[in-house]
Amino acid sequence: MTWTAIVLAAGLSTRFKSERPKVAHPLAGRPMIRHVLEALRAAGCSIPPVVVIGPTAPAAQEAAGPDVQFAIQPEPRGTGDAARWARPILQGRVAHILITYGDLPLVRPETFRRMIETHEARGATLTLLTVHLADPTGYGRIVRDSEERVLRIVEEAEARPEERRLSEVNVGVYVVREPWLWPALSRLRPSPVKGEIYLTDLVALAAAEGAQVETVLLEDPEEALGINTRAHLAEAERILRRRINTRWMLEGVTLVDPERVYIGTDVIIGPDTVIYPDTYLEGQTRIGRRCRIGPNAILRDAVIGDDCVVEASVVEGATLADRVHVGPFAHLRPGTRLAEEVHVGNFAEIKNSTVGPRTRMHHFGYLGDATVGANVNIGAGTVTCNYDGVRKHPTIIEDEAFIGSDTMLVAPVRVGRKAKTGAGSVVTRDVPPETLVYGVPARPRSSS
Ligand code: UD1
Ligand code: CA
Repeated sequence: MTWTAIVLAAGLSTRFKSERPKVAHPLAGRPMIRHVLEALRAAGCSIPPVVVIGPTAPAAQEAAGPDVQFAIQPEPRGTGDAARWARPILQGRVAHILITYGDLPLVRPETFRRMIETHEARGATLTLLTVHLADPTGYGRIVRDSEERVLRIVEEAEARPEERRLSEVNVGVYVVREPWLWPALSRLRPSPVKGEIYLTDLVALAAAEGAQVETVLLEDPEEALGINTRAHLAEAERILRRRINTRWMLEGVTLVDPERVYIGTDVIIGPDTVIYPDTYLEGQTRIGRRCRIGPNAILRDAVIGDDCVVEASVVEGATLADRVHVGPFAHLRPGTRLAEEVHVGNFAEIKNSTVGPRTRMHHFGYLGDATVGANVNIGAGTVTCNYDGVRKHPTIIEDEAFIGSDTMLVAPVRVGRKAKTGAGSVVTRDVPPETLVYGVPARPRSSS
């Protein structure tokens, strides 16, 4: 069966109180709407879904990412009107269309699949997803007749008191036979209460003409959470965090306190790695096996080898080989590459630099735009003075050099193999291999 989806995301998000479209807000490290689109892809839609956005929503477009089509709803006249704008893109292209909302990021791919399968197996015209909620506030209620057939969905604003007490609600996922959909959408009329055109009125249309309406019941009410407010956003974040953390624990990662570890959706972690509390793993971070990460670590787009330790540090856009030790209190910035067994200690900052195997920088200092060889010792307080106020300059430190405490390396500059700098030197000129320099400005010992 061929199908695709329409994802509605053109509303004003009044309750969210944001300058940015609600669906562009991050949730577990991805824009909210990406969760919906990923789940639809995983469920196997035949052609790219159509996202309906508002006319002033480039942010929503960016949030949705590649491999989607966009339709623009010129004015937010309701969910029923929004779906109409996908017609020019989708008419006649698939057998069935799933319609859902960009603010439903917790629906699982299996649920979308189950809806498609039920819809097909029963030969339905319209299939909708429902759930029983202890507190149905804010959701459309499902009204059934005495034989349990669905009659209509009543929105909260229109619901009579006895209808408000109904616990079965509309989750906001519909599968509709394509040729039936477009004329039905055209027949929807604005709600007398709110003036909006409700997508949910499709159900009453179908029921009234005797078309077959089926329901799929959600077992797990968590999936039904629609994100209307920041409080819902935090709730969804908590639910997604629990899903992600459980998954990694089942993959062999130890989370010392899973309530206090924040792992982004796209992060990958090797088995036997132990993550301590208050650790944030973000972006495209990859971590190898048997590492110890945290407590209090922030890893953003970091690539970490096997058997590494990263304690109470910030690592962003940096690549660490195996057996590297970082922290506590280090800051590795984009473009940092540390080879095997490098040690970086407290208050060390490294940016756009390559550091060779077994090199040690145990104490505070700064390396920027540097290429450092193997087995180098970088003393406390070493600074690459890489910026002259206009341009950045490189520093090269060759294998087995020994940089004395408080050395200022005024770039561009090269320190040769096995060379040494005395404590407090200000190195303004290249140091030949196996030479000791000291003083301000630093001179070789032989010439003093
Ligand atoms: C909607 C359903 C309600 C259901 C609930 C589930 C309708 C009328 N009601 O209510 O039955 O229980 O979701 O979460 O559909 N949108 C547009 N254009 C518009 C208006 C909205 O694209 O003109 C988009 C919004 O961006 C949003 C989605 O449609 O992503 C749903 O709109 P929202 O206002 O959040 O509907 P609810 O009140 O939550
Ligand atoms: Ca909503």
